Amino acid sequence: MTSSSFVPSPDTQAEMRAALGHFATGVAVVTAQTPRGPLAITANSFTSVSLAPPLVLWCPARHSKRHDPFVAASHFAIHVMAEDALETALHFARNGEVFDHHSWSSTPEGIPALDEALVRLDCAHYATHPGGDHTILLGEVQRVSQRRDLGAGLVFHQGRYGRFSDQS
Ligand SMILES: Cc1cc2nc3c(=O)[nH]c(=O)nc-3n(C[C@H](O)[C@H](O)[C@H](O)COP(=O)(O)O)c2cc1C
Repeated sequence: MTSSSFVPSPDTQAEMRAALGHFATGVAVVTAQTPRGPLAITANSFTSVSLAPPLVLWCPARHSKRHDPFVAASHFAIHVMAEDALETALHFARNGEVFDHHSWSSTPEGIPALDEALVRLDCAHYATHPGGDHTILLGEVQRVSQRRDLGAGLVFHQGRYGRFSDQS
């Protein structure tokens, strides 16, 4: 057995990222309407928090130029991306303002709603909390929309994308 340990510090951020990357996640795209138009960001910090009330969270990075508009938005939508939506996840990681090549509509609250989501959670801004170099942004889920024709969700693990494999 080989093992190692380290104390998190500014010098071990790469090791820290690699250690945390062993925890596989899904991939979400978060959208909001802003004074400059529709905005999106790819995020894997999405987590469910509470059923009553229905709360979820995600964490925008404070250094992101998209941080302030997302924190200021009264509403946002979390899209759980399908396994065939890799290109869309990559696109909104690179560019949050160009929606031209992705089919979308507006929710009743005016939030951009992407067609390619397995599940879309329409949220009202509930609270923010400090989270180091990120902000913890909680949303109260006001509507859940689901598609059953898109297979399983896209998986993210160790910086790579993949598909779910059932072992049960
Ligand atoms: C799989 C994946 C997950 C990500 N998760 C987050 C996240 O949870 N929070 C965040 O702020 N950025 C996250 N990002 C980074 C953003 O998608 C985006 O690349 C970054 O905000 C770009 O910087 P900018 O907003 O200044 O343009 C993630 C990127 C990828 C590819």
